[in-house]
Amino acid sequence: MDNNSFFITTPIYYVNDAPHIGHAYTSIACDVLARFNRLNNRNTMFLTGTDEHGLKVEQAAKKKNMETKKFVDEMSVSFKKLTKKLNLSNDFFIRTTDKYHKKASQYIWNILKKNNQIYLDKYKGWYSVSDEAYFNDDEITIHEKTKKKIAPTGNEVQWVEEESYFFKLSKWQDKLLEYYKKNPDFIGPESRKNEVISFVKNGLNDLSISRTTFSWGIEVPHDKKHVMYVWLDALINYLSAIGYPDKKYKKFWPANLHIVGKDIIRFHAVYWPAFLLAAKIKPPKRIFAHGWWTNEGKKISKSLGNVIDPDTIIKEYGLDTLRFFLLREVPFGNDGNFSKKALERRINNDLANDLGNLVQRVLIIINKNLDGKLNKIKQIKKNDKKLFEYPEALLKVVEKNYERQEFHKVIDNIWKLISEANKYVDKSEPWKLIKDNKKRAGDVLNILIVIIAKIAIFLAPIMPETSKNILNKLGLNINKLSMKNIKENNFINTNFRVEKPEILFKKLI
Ligand code: MSP
Repeated sequence: MDNNSFFITTPIYYVNDAPHIGHAYTSIACDVLARFNRLNNRNTMFLTGTDEHGLKVEQAAKKKNMETKKFVDEMSVSFKKLTKKLNLSNDFFIRTTDKYHKKASQYIWNILKKNNQIYLDKYKGWYSVSDEAYFNDDEITIHEKTKKKIAPTGNEVQWVEEESYFFKLSKWQDKLLEYYKKNPDFIGPESRKNEVISFVKNGLNDLSISRTTFSWGIEVPHDKKHVMYVWLDALINYLSAIGYPDKKYKKFWPANLHIVGKDIIRFHAVYWPAFLLAAKIKPPKRIFAHGWWTNEGKKISKSLGNVIDPDTIIKEYGLDTLRFFLLREVPFGNDGNFSKKALERRINNDLANDLGNLVQRVLIIINKNLDGKLNKIKQIKKNDKKLFEYPEALLKVVEKNYERQEFHKVIDNIWKLISEANKYVDKSEPWKLIKDNKKRAGDVLNILIVIIAKIAIFLAPIMPETSKNILNKLGLNINKLSMKNIKENNFINTNFRVEKPEILFKKLI
């Protein structure tokens, strides 16, 4: 693996239904990390895509009276469209119905077979189509109202008895536990790591990895009756998308980070490394599981009719606001509640009052009093140092925050700089200085320009359009900048004249 590379992935999304806020959340988080690493000069690969096989998808197509392939083609487009709507910077979009992916999956199957990791038997047990997962007897309960048998996820299960290939997962219990111990950063956050470890400690059953009662899947090599279990097929996307089995996959493998929701941590932190170790491929470096959103305090579900369409929020509040809100409101890893009130509070306070106001008042004074002209700073005084030296220290902190997927801390820390800058404006009162000491006023304002430009660079991964907009007002372009600029001050365009700025964020009453 190239040491300077950074490979980050979203889960691939089931195409049984339209995209919602949960999908948007994972994708935005990954996008922020991809953009940050690119700006930090790492060779970045950001992957997302759609998970198109399995019973759940097949049944959804049937419900719509559509041919399955036609259905998945259409649904996949809506997820592709979402990448544009969210301004994702993904380098590739994988579909598990693509040929190269099928080939890679069968290739891995053959390796597992050759390595004596697969055997043929009969599966007898519970299966939840909604979760595309098998459950043990002791995990099943009866739903109070419907009296139906349900999995711990709340989804209905059905009894399955069929011939099936099994993966010798039970054999990997100790090796997995050893792996978690040796790689303490493999699973985040800590609470999920503990959950996974105790699950594995409880003992692992061999895993059914093929089905025979439907055909919407990747054919098992040399046994046409069987299609691969959709999770085996899906997990392999992380390899097939970067060229596996061709050696070129090694440029990005092992992946630096798979971001997933808490509901699918077991597949990623137990099954996936076991498959990989069994195939003699290195596991990814880290898996981080985020929490779930509720809507105005209620679980989001189709039956309750309270699914949040990201498009509606974007139309009402703007994309960058949504990106900001999702990552600022809730510590990544925790569950969170989506409420318009909370969103509007963030717009009024953080975005309009703090960020918007800073940019607005500095640019207005320059436009009015210095003819809009930006200039080199002539003298840094003692009182300027705290603010002037802040960004470089902030970069170190933010890098650490990103490494731990602590987006809320990244944002909180950037806002400390914004607040420091606002305090500096209040204290130095450039609107008064301009009358008494124009030279000093020029320095104060040009110091603030450097700081605002750096704030915009810090914001670029999180709010790309807002950042572009701010930099534009200063005659700068993010494509010509990087995190390196945080450590220097000579990148300001001193030939540029600042125009009277438009308001960045309007307050909502
Ligand atoms: N297809 C599998 C993933 C295979 S990856 C090899 C899958 N797809 S999914 O479309 O059902 O879910 C994708 C992601 O959306 C999951 O990470 C899930 O946690 C996330 N979310 C779904 N609903 C959510 C919320 N209400 N809140 C936050 N995220 C949630 O699972």
